[in-house]
Order: sequence, then C-alpha cells, then structure tokens
Amino acid sequence: MNMRALVVANWKMNPPTFREAKKLFEATRKAAEKARKSNVVIAPPAVFLRELSKRYRGSRVAFAVQNAHWEAGGAHTGEISLRQAHDARAHYAIIGHAERRAEGETDDDVRKKVASALALKMTPILCVGEKERTDGGDQYGVVREQLRAALADVAPAKLGGVLVVYEPLWSVGKDTTMDPREMHQMAIFMRKCIVDTHGDAGRSLKILYGGSVDEKNAGAMLREAEVRGFLVGRASIDAKGFSALLKVIENA
Ligand code: PGA
Repeated sequence: MNMRALVVANWKMNPPTFREAKKLFEATRKAAEKARKSNVVIAPPAVFLRELSKRYRGSRVAFAVQNAHWEAGGAHTGEISLRQAHDARAHYAIIGHAERRAEGETDDDVRKKVASALALKMTPILCVGEKERTDGGDQYGVVREQLRAALADVAPAKLGGVLVVYEPLWSVGKDTTMDPREMHQMAIFMRKCIVDTHGDAGRSLKILYGGSVDEKNAGAMLREAEVRGFLVGRASIDAKGFSALLKVIENA
C-alpha cells in the first residue's frame, strides 16, 4: 500500500475511568507514532475528549467524537453538539454508526449531522450498512438509500472531505469479518451510487471498512478490498491488539 491507511479507534463506552483512558491513550499514541503506514484517529467517550486532546501536542493522532448533535446549542438534555466537540479538538465525527441507528437515529438526523460537521470543517466519518444479510441482496438497496440521504446536502466539491465506512451491523462485535472480495464489490457499488448522485467526484470517494477488524484480517482487507482504512472497535481498546493491527498494516 502506498498511501497511509486511516485507522479510527472507536472506543465506544470504554474504558470505565479517565485513569484507564490516559493509559490506553498513551499506548495508542506510542503505537501510532511508530507506524509509518497509518494515521490514527481516536474516538474516546466525549467526556474524556478535551482532557486527552489538550495533553497531546503531536500531530500523528487526531480526535473524533463518536456522536454529536447538529445544532450548535439548545434544549437537548443529555446531548453534546458538534460545535462543542470541535471546540474540544475533535476534527472528525463518527456519524450514523450502526449502534446509533439501532437506537433510533434516522437518515434525516444523519444528513443534518454530516452537513453540520462539514460546515464546522470537521471530517464526517459516515457509517452505512445493513442490519442483516438476506439472500435477496437487499444490502445494496439499503446502502444506496443511506448514502443518498446522508449526502443529499453535500455539494460534489465537498465530497473529498467525507469518509464513508461500510459497516454492516451483523459484522460488528463478531468473531469473523466480511470476505474482502465482497467488500471490494460493495466499494465499487458505493462509488457508483455517489457518481449517480454527485457526478465524477464520487469516483474518488474514500471508503473504509468496519466490523470485527483485527490483526488477523486487516492485511487481506487492505490488499484485496482496496479500502483506505478501518473503523475499529474491540481491537482499539486492547493496547497490544491495536499495536499488532498497526504492524500488520505496515506490511500489507
Ligand atoms: P468491532 O466494532 O471492531 O468491535 O466489531 C466496530 C465498530 O462498531 O466501530
């Protein structure tokens, strides 16, 4: 691989304390600084974001918020805004994660979040993917519609600032990952969908894969599926596993 892979460490609701978050961050930072073929984005729980980002002076690690509201402020108890996350030095935002969609996030919410993130000059990490696999190939229709809705307010000239992750819910938190050749087919399909809605700008769409990525399956996925990187859950909260994953990417 000539280009650096982008590896997004989605810590989800982990670890339980800030003390542990600092330790995990230190280990992740060290691994990221050694890696010559990956750039790392850490998405910690929002409550740890500012404390972690303000201690970090380097440039090899960037920060993401795992979810945030599109409005800059208002009566939304329990929410944080993309504006606030940006102020805490999150330059990326995971949007439309399957676990958020499962909690009721709609395509329309996703569209507003993508537009709001871009307006703040944040990079949306837009997640799409079906909940279940059926024999009828329904995943293609689901992904087409999610992409159309999420990117409806994005001008073709702004597409280069969006990362799209294919992460079907059935592959998240499991023992096996998707077949890389199948991911390759899906990536071709996703580009075609965006070319249909946004014209030629869709050809260079940056596509990542997510769902049970680890050091055992990442190499084949990079080589055979031609993805630009990964959204990583469990392997990102295990310092050794994450470092092993970055090493595999070095040799892919
Ligand atoms: P996983 O999670 O790597 O544990 O499957 C991925 C994600 O949900 O981002």
